[in-house]
Amino acid sequence: MSDTKAPETVILTINGKEVEATPGELVIDAAERTGTYIPRFCYHPRMEPVGMCRMCVVEIDTGRGPALQPACMIPVAPDMVVDTESEVTKKAQDGILEFLLINHPLDCPVCDKGGECPLQDQTMSYGPGESRMVEEKRHFAKPIPISDLVDLDRERCILCDRCTRFAKDVAGDALIHFIDRGNQTQVNTFPDHPFASYFSGNTVQICPVGALTASPYRFKARPWDLDQVESTCTSCSVGCRVVVQSTRNEIVRYSGVDVDPVNWGWLCDKGRFDFQAATSEDRLGAPLVRAAGGELAPATWGVALKQAATALRDAEPGRIGVIGGARLTNESAYAWAKLAKGVLGTDNVDAQLGDGLPAEVVLGLPRATIDEVCAPGGTVLVLGPDLKEELPVLFLRLRHAVTRDKVSVIEVAPRRSSVSELAAASLVCRPGAEAEVVRALLAGGTAAAGGLEAEALTAAAALLQRGPVTVVLGRANLADRGDCVVAAASAIHEAHPQVKFLSALRRSNVHGALDMGLAPGLLPGRASLADAGGWFRDAGWANAPSERGLDATGILQAAAGGKLDVLVLLGADPLADFPDAGLATKAVAGARTVIAVDQFLTASAQQADVVLAAAGYAEVDGSTTNLEGRVSALHRKVTPPGTARADWMIAHELARLIGHD
Ligand code: SF4
Ligand code: SF4
Ligand code: FES
Repeated sequence: MSDTKAPETVILTINGKEVEATPGELVIDAAERTGTYIPRFCYHPRMEPVGMCRMCVVEIDTGRGPALQPACMIPVAPDMVVDTESEVTKKAQDGILEFLLINHPLDCPVCDKGGECPLQDQTMSYGPGESRMVEEKRHFAKPIPISDLVDLDRERCILCDRCTRFAKDVAGDALIHFIDRGNQTQVNTFPDHPFASYFSGNTVQICPVGALTASPYRFKARPWDLDQVESTCTSCSVGCRVVVQSTRNEIVRYSGVDVDPVNWGWLCDKGRFDFQAATSEDRLGAPLVRAAGGELAPATWGVALKQAATALRDAEPGRIGVIGGARLTNESAYAWAKLAKGVLGTDNVDAQLGDGLPAEVVLGLPRATIDEVCAPGGTVLVLGPDLKEELPVLFLRLRHAVTRDKVSVIEVAPRRSSVSELAAASLVCRPGAEAEVVRALLAGGTAAAGGLEAEALTAAAALLQRGPVTVVLGRANLADRGDCVVAAASAIHEAHPQVKFLSALRRSNVHGALDMGLAPGLLPGRASLADAGGWFRDAGWANAPSERGLDATGILQAAAGGKLDVLVLLGADPLADFPDAGLATKAVAGARTVIAVDQFLTASAQQADVVLAAAGYAEVDGSTTNLEGRVSALHRKVTPPGTARADWMIAHELARLIGHD
């Protein structure tokens, strides 16, 4: 019998040049990778090809003579000959463009896409110089809002099927589709069903014309007015790569960047559109100090910093608490950890607000990457939050893994979530019984546990035996204390030490904050007080606490009990954001001095004695760490409002006033 092993490379010829490709690679990709761009509208590398637009037709000869074929639908083959520049190819591409332009309106001067539009660009490069059509173009009412964020100009649509494929295949929200037939074919929503998807902005980004536009950006700028930097979204801990675009020192748009290990070019709408908060009129542009009459009033930085530094210097270390810090860059988090632990000597520091997991657990378990969780054929145990709500693009990656790469998901949670519809086994257990269910699964699922019958557990237990297993670990809700998922994680780790865990903590840079020591019992570098205190003192820190301090709940309890002299809210708003609102209210009222470092006058900041105005996203350079532990750069694009300062500068100034570096 002959050896049937597939060759590892395929040799073909593109425009007279021999190139190597991988088996199964599409001609359009092989050509682009080797320097030949083939025009396209419907093809998108992150979606299945459909061959709708025919813009990519090129002459392909597989041994039976050259024929026009769509390069996005044809995989490479040995000895294939591709000609993207022949007269036949050029005439075909020219004809496709002429047909597309029969109905496309001449909106370019007023269209958001003008200047960055593939239809404009490809018409210039591959299209006819003029049209032979003089007939009236079709007209639709325009634009129609298909959601709060997306407007649709139907007559600009070239029916490429990108938006509809994204909505159905990638996001799983099949809320837009083609309706009607022939010349009246159009993209639209179903009657009375808006395009209510958490991922709708991606359709605007991938639409190759200006048919879909984002209402927060519409008519705000033209592409040639935009200046941009690449950065990382910090609206949750997935850490999607973005470009931040501004005009006249105002952020007007974020666009997704395709990075293979993280977001594949996608963003969720929360991340894509929250620049509107950065440009809000409610941003703080100057510090505030509580005046004699009891009201917060604007103050100079000198006065505000002096008042804050005096309160911190006069307090005993054990009577100072710092909560928050997950909003900060890694560099600012380090500066604040050094101020709190190295200068003030307090270990009452916590970047999580009672909604995460103990830092030692997050940092101590073997860590998985998103790619490892989504690796084909694996099994993923989800013990955590509703991923679509909290970590939306991780949900997209997991959805792709399940629908395309045969990944099996087992969900163990006290209620159904977005993950349930993806799960091969959705085990809705009694609240707090996650560890019991996991132990039962590890034992083969032969006995009832956690309110679930044995039959429900048996099949899931079998899945756990199959393929590499990873665990997505976080808090399913705030009503439990997190102990149950920690116990469940410990049981898995003990039984299978090779299993890796992807942390599903939701706050933006919480992983960077924990790495930098903004947690009780830890110093920067994931080191314990006992192990690293001496090292930091030798390295010049004035202090390094030796006793483990309080977590956020403990800090708030101490403040509520009158045992805290200074409560520092580092981008934290416990009144709005701590699970026990009653305790938070008593704590903010009970601390002798409250110092808030924030971008907004939040409910908690309104109760503070000193409010220090902090610079925000895209206003500072630095880095952030995502849930995999991946460190990526953040870049400054605009100036902060008023005199707002970077968090690290505020820490530095306070330390200097206290007499330290
Ligand atoms: Fe394609 Fe845009 Fe039309 Fe959707 S709206 S089918 S993305 S041209
Ligand atoms: Fe930003 Fe998270 Fe959404 Fe990604 S998933 S765009 S990091 S909010
Ligand atoms: Fe190939 Fe549309 S890009 S048919």
